[in-house]
Amino acid sequence: MNNKFSFDANNFRKEFPIFNKKINGKDLIFLDTAASAQKPQCVIDSVNKCYSENYANIHRGVYHLSANLTSQYERVREKVAKFINAKSNKEIIFTKSATEALNLIASCLYKDYLKEDDEILLTYLEHHANIVPWQINNIGKKTKLVVADLNDDTTLNIEDLIKKISKKTKLISITHMSNSLGHINDIKKVCNEAKKRNIPVVVDGCQYIAHGRVNVAEIGCDFYVFSGHKIYGPSGIGVLYGKQSWLENLPPYQGGGDMIERVTFEKTTFAELPQKFEAGTPPIAQVIGLGSAIDYVKKINVDEIYLYQKYLYQYAYESLRSIPSLNIIGHSDNKGGILSFTLDYAHTNDVGVILDQEGIAIRTGHHCTQPLMKKLGIDSTARASFGLYNTKNDIDRLSSSLKRMKEFFNE
Ligand code: ALA
Repeated sequence: MNNKFSFDANNFRKEFPIFNKKINGKDLIFLDTAASAQKPQCVIDSVNKCYSENYANIHRGVYHLSANLTSQYERVREKVAKFINAKSNKEIIFTKSATEALNLIASCLYKDYLKEDDEILLTYLEHHANIVPWQINNIGKKTKLVVADLNDDTTLNIEDLIKKISKKTKLISITHMSNSLGHINDIKKVCNEAKKRNIPVVVDGCQYIAHGRVNVAEIGCDFYVFSGHKIYGPSGIGVLYGKQSWLENLPPYQGGGDMIERVTFEKTTFAELPQKFEAGTPPIAQVIGLGSAIDYVKKINVDEIYLYQKYLYQYAYESLRSIPSLNIIGHSDNKGGILSFTLDYAHTNDVGVILDQEGIAIRTGHHCTQPLMKKLGIDSTARASFGLYNTKNDIDRLSSSLKRMKEFFNE
């Protein structure tokens, strides 16, 4: 491991006002970025400015404020398209969350594309948001979920995934990076295999988007979703990328204002992309904040963030692996900044509560991946996840608290 890593997390941290706060009288050690990232001042300022200086509804007004904010909103769409290398702004749909984006795809694909007995191929690493929408939209069609297995080290078994592609497979929906364990999947390989068989691929990029560069053209996926709040932007904003040919042919998701061309009581015709999928007043300030978050991570450099996350993971792995009675769940060579563990002598929830006394915030539980937990034979993990503001010192604090924890339970 390169100990001379020059990424200046200490400096970036100063741009996040939350770190001025004390928790239980201690400096905040925030190790739950996989659940939601903290926000830099520039993102907070951009949302504030949107409401205090620029606010009006968009796409609806001929007056200055509305026209101006409409342009800003549409410029963020362009920024997102460039950020993930989409071919056109029409391929970027704003939703309220990545979960809504997955529900949108599931709902629309079930209307026309998915038929009786079709198979949807998922993996054991999926978040509930990439399982449940495929179940609840499966009304009267009896499509089947097929699940690709894991290797012994808990990484995705791509050979098993390929083996499970059958003539009935109509869709593959897969996470780019496991939110519970941090494994990064070889999405490009999955897309290549799918393409050979003309099967569309949906990628859940919620975790990966904050860890590395996303290039949808190079990946070759048909859909890619992520949320703003995990990439240092506001909550309440998700992004759905869809290939234009798919989005043009899918039926609308929700009906309402802005998604129409012409409405009569007899019939409605729909707006062009992307408006067709953005019914109602959209999350305007959240989109503006997302634009600012993208500027922020681009300025820091997405590739540096990727390397730094890997560095922090490796440092944490080395620090925690020798702690007696601590089991690291899911170590592999290709991970982002997520480390899950259990302790032999304590339930993970208790671990989380005790760490909180020290000002250390981690997530404990099933992380919205109950099928994965069942597969691993556990009900929960304690999960430390890293952001660009975390330092080796944060991990040292976690490690020394965990070393002291056994004494606490023995008392
Ligand atoms: N999906 C988020 C997590 O992994 C909330 O914690």
